[in-house]
Amino acid sequence: MTTTQTVLVTGAASGIGRACAARLLDQGHEVVAMDVNGEALAAALRPEGSRLMLQQCDVSQAQSCADAIAAAIARFGKVDALIHWAAIHSSTFWTDLGADEFNRVLSTNVTGSFLIAQAAGLHMKTRGKGAIVLASSTSMLAGSTGGQTGSGGAAYVASKAAIIGLVRSLANALGRYGVRVNAVAPGVVDTPMIGGYSAEHRAAQPARVPLGRIGSPDEIADVGCFLISHESRYIHGETIIVNGGANFG
Ligand SMILES: NC(=O)c1ccc[n+]([C@@H]2O[C@H](COP(=O)([O-])OP(=O)(O)OC[C@H]3O[C@@H](n4cnc5c(N)ncnc54)[C@H](O)[C@@H]3O)[C@@H](O)[C@H]2O)c1
Repeated sequence: MTTTQTVLVTGAASGIGRACAARLLDQGHEVVAMDVNGEALAAALRPEGSRLMLQQCDVSQAQSCADAIAAAIARFGKVDALIHWAAIHSSTFWTDLGADEFNRVLSTNVTGSFLIAQAAGLHMKTRGKGAIVLASSTSMLAGSTGGQTGSGGAAYVASKAAIIGLVRSLANALGRYGVRVNAVAPGVVDTPMIGGYSAEHRAAQPARVPLGRIGSPDEIADVGCFLISHESRYIHGETIIVNGGANFG
C-alpha cells in the first residue's frame, strides 16, 4: 500500500541522504531535502517539480531545526515522516582525541539527531501519527580504531552507539501518540563519508562482507523508506542492521 507522504530528509546533499530524497520523489512523495550545506544541496537535487523543497538546516542548532519544520509545514501543510541521515565522520585516533573534537562529533551526530527528532516529533504528536528514522552504524557493535585506516574513531563510534538509546527512548515516549521511531545501522557504504579510508582499508572491505561488496547508497536509503511505509507499521524502537551480512568479530 503506497500512501503519498510529506517527508523530511536530512543529509540530502550527499550519499545516502541524496539517494533517499531521490527515491522518495520517484515514489511520488513530497520531499523536504535538508542539509547544512545549502550550495551542495542545490547542486545535488533539482527542484523541477512542486514536490521538492530545498531547506538549509544545521541539525545541531535547535532554532534551525524548528525553522525547517515550520518552513515545511508552511509549504506542504504537514510533515508525515523524518528520515535523518545527516552526520559527520571523525577518524581521530584515541590518543589525539580531545574534548573539542569529541564534543564536535557528538554535537552534530547525537544532539543533532535529538533536536531534529524533537522538532519533528512535537508536530507529529499533535497530529497523532508519524514516523522517524535515525542513522546509527554497525561500527557501534565492533568498534573501530580510526587513525591511519581512516575508519571512524572513538568519537564517531560512540555517537552512533548513542543513537540506539535515543531511538528506544523516543519510541517509548512517542509510541502512544502514533509516532514510530526506528534507526538504520549501515555497514560500510560507498559515499563521500568513507573518502578518508586508506587504500588498504578500503580494499579490505568487500572480503569482510558475505555478499562480497560494500553497500550502495540506494540499498541503505531503501530501508529508510521502508521504515516510514505502511508495510513497517508494527516495527518500533528498532535499529535495523543493513550490512550485507558482515559479522562483527
Ligand atoms: N557511508 C558509510 O559507510 C556509513 C556507514 C554507517 C553509517 N553511516 C551513516 O549514514 C548516514 C549518511 O552517511 P553518508 O555516508 O551518506 O554521509 P555523507 O558524508 O555522504 O553525507 C552526510 C551529509 O550530512 C550533512 N551534514 C553534516 N552535518 C550536518 C548538520 N549539522 N546539519 C545538517 N546536515 C549536515 C553533510 O553536509 C552531508 O551532505 C550518516 O548518519 C552516517 O553516519 C554511513
